[in-house]
Amino acid sequence: MSTELRDIATKLALEAGELIATRRAGHVEVANTKSSDVDVVTAVDQESEQLLFSRLQELRPGDGFVGEEGKAQSSSTGVTWVVDPIDGTVNFLYNIPHYAVSIAAVTGEPSPGSWQVEAGVVYNPATTELFHAARGQGAYLGQRRLQIGTPPPMNLALLATGFAYSQAMRVEQVRVLSQIIGEIRDIRRMGTASLDFAAVAAGRVDIYFERTLSPWDHAAGELLVTEAGGVIQGIRDLPHGREGIFAGHPTLVTQLKARISEVGGDTLLEDVPGWGLE
Ligand code: IPD
Ligand code: CA
Ligand code: CA
Repeated sequence: MSTELRDIATKLALEAGELIATRRAGHVEVANTKSSDVDVVTAVDQESEQLLFSRLQELRPGDGFVGEEGKAQSSSTGVTWVVDPIDGTVNFLYNIPHYAVSIAAVTGEPSPGSWQVEAGVVYNPATTELFHAARGQGAYLGQRRLQIGTPPPMNLALLATGFAYSQAMRVEQVRVLSQIIGEIRDIRRMGTASLDFAAVAAGRVDIYFERTLSPWDHAAGELLVTEAGGVIQGIRDLPHGREGIFAGHPTLVTQLKARISEVGGDTLLEDVPGWGLE
């Protein structure tokens, strides 16, 4: 089943990618804001989600759907599609060629910690790089199988991360980073969570850590990492998800988790003053 779902996700990611590339060639502007003034949505995000929703209804009637821009459908088949129609919207808006369509098919309760990801596809229409995985079948960039190698020591590790849309949370995230940036090679804030997971799988960064993600930011990417031999963990003993998510080689994840904890980077979100506010 997982390969069939992967093939559908691939087909639809390419279709949505074509739409996004066409729209990006024209004029793109902000249509609305969401959690804060800097959390933007363009008409293309909505158009891409609409395309994915209606194509899935044709190809997989009965499957559930959870999309960032609000399309939702409960599942009668046990399969739910978890979709970010444009991940990296700020990059898309600024025409930085680093954004993606992220499509996952999950079984079980469609929430992190409960779901099993069966298939995941992350497609960057600006570079045409296609990352894909089916559960138990490996992770690939195009035709090339991905395998996470032996990790470097922490002081040579390149860390990808991202910041929340909440200003208060970002200040806290920078405080935590300021404690560890002197102990690693460097950080990358590339602006597209799904491509950060893909970068871990492809060995373009050594480890990734972020807080306040939503299910569609990581559903597809987490399968790329685990199928490439890495692990996905949450902060403390919590399931991975909004509170926090680590991705990478198990040794590095264990080390970074411990260090983040030592510097107070695993304070529960509800205890970070103003974390959910602008
Ligand atoms: C965002 C990107 C970004 C991450 C944010 C996400 P969006 O998704 O993945 O890298 O740091 O947390 O919300 O809003 O561009 O779909
Ligand atoms: Ca996203
Ligand atoms: Ca998005």
